[in-house]
Amino acid sequence: MVSGQLGEEAAVESVRGGATDYVLKQRLSRLGPSVRRALAEADDRSKRKQAEEALRKSEDQLRHVQKMEAVGRLAAGVAHDFNNLLTAIIGYTQLMQRRFPPDHPATKDAGEVLGAAERAASLTRQLLIFSRQQVLKPRVLDLNGIVSGMDRILRGLIDAGIDFLAVPARDLGRIKADPGHVEQVLVNLVVNARDAMPSGGRLTIETANIELDEHYVLDHPPAQPGRYVVLAVTDSGCGMDAETQARIFEPFYTTKEVGKGTGLGLSTVHGIVHQCGGHIDVYSEIGVGSVFKVYLPRVDEAVDPVVSRGVEPPAPGTETVLLVEDHARVRNVIAETLRLNGYTVLEAAEPGEAMSRAHEHPARLDLLLTDVMLPGMNGPELARAIARRHPEARVLFMSGYTDNAVIHQGLLGSGAAFLQKPFTAEGLLRGIRALLDNGLREAA
Ligand SMILES: Nc1ncnc2c1ncn2[C@@H]1O[C@H](COP(=O)(O)OP(=O)(O)OP(=O)(O)O)[C@@H](O)[C@H]1O
Ligand SMILES: [Mg+2]
Repeated sequence: MVSGQLGEEAAVESVRGGATDYVLKQRLSRLGPSVRRALAEADDRSKRKQAEEALRKSEDQLRHVQKMEAVGRLAAGVAHDFNNLLTAIIGYTQLMQRRFPPDHPATKDAGEVLGAAERAASLTRQLLIFSRQQVLKPRVLDLNGIVSGMDRILRGLIDAGIDFLAVPARDLGRIKADPGHVEQVLVNLVVNARDAMPSGGRLTIETANIELDEHYVLDHPPAQPGRYVVLAVTDSGCGMDAETQARIFEPFYTTKEVGKGTGLGLSTVHGIVHQCGGHIDVYSEIGVGSVFKVYLPRVDEAVDPVVSRGVEPPAPGTETVLLVEDHARVRNVIAETLRLNGYTVLEAAEPGEAMSRAHEHPARLDLLLTDVMLPGMNGPELARAIARRHPEARVLFMSGYTDNAVIHQGLLGSGAAFLQKPFTAEGLLRGIRALLDNGLREAA
């Protein structure tokens, strides 16, 4: 009767509307089977709708991940080529500086070239971090220690009109990360917060322990349940609309004027945090402000002691180095730098040539300095082949980027000495001395 007058949909609504369970059952028993069927279908419809919504969300998420991966591969490729070019630019400029007296105009010009090259190197470093192609030096860290250690630098970054407050949690858990990277995350978030408050405001940095449960992770893919340490950076700035929020982690996405922002700040943060097994949660309202919460997995190990680095210029050497590098310019500049500093250098452009050089060399070979990616054979394979003839040789790998395969398939074991391109003459010489003198693996 009801269904005849109101139609099925309306009947379902009228039965559902505000009725208690008892009344509902009474009414249902009076209704014909067709309305009951309609009710069941309506339930199915809403379930289907939910399922469709969940599917759409996960498809969006997948598309986003795929896009970030593709942009990451592109960024890594660009950074790799640039790092080889920069190695040559920095190397030759430093050689030029040695040839002119300090007060010569060419020395000053060379200094400008070096400054620009170092700025370019920092951009490619950020691209590599984003694409997660960097070799990490993770340590067990106390996040509060990093925040308080950065206090002066952070205060120097923000303007006088901004109130700065740090609220460290007591008994904060430890994290495992590369300390330089965690500092970079802090700086990038603080600089963004500052830029969002041109006429002043409040900036708060908080830390906390938190446990994420199944409920939270369902709403925050790709978060995983577990114990985390949170770093929250809150500002009372301009905030962001939904469209901006959807794109902030893309490299080169910026809303700042040309010359003001490169759009690499948050993509770098994204790369670092995901590489540590963490994730980022952003909440923002236009005109109210933004909160960036960085979740880093908590570890139970004790904090690693800090190893201080030497500041004296690296000592010259007398050893013999087999240098394997397929880019001629890069090879030439490294060879010349090493020779100027007392080393004997055997050069090879590819693995076959390297093996014949090693074979023809009857005396002691102190070091194999090789690129990771070489034509025909990778650096670690070459190192094993050379070790058969010269087991005494130590190995230092270098690369403009470390291909994912190299890191993830363990080609370059975590103990391998590694030098990230581009490097300065000092970085190269220091890395070589550290390895030859102490067997130190931290070469860069
Ligand atoms: N705290 C914030 N408040 C408001 N908008 C923000 C905030 N942080 C980031 N954004 C927005 O996200 C964009 C991307 O940030 P990101 O740090 O990646 O690049 P950038 O700051 O523009 O440039 P760069 O950091 O490379 O100098 C910014 O241009 C801005 O629109
Ligand atoms: Mg920024």
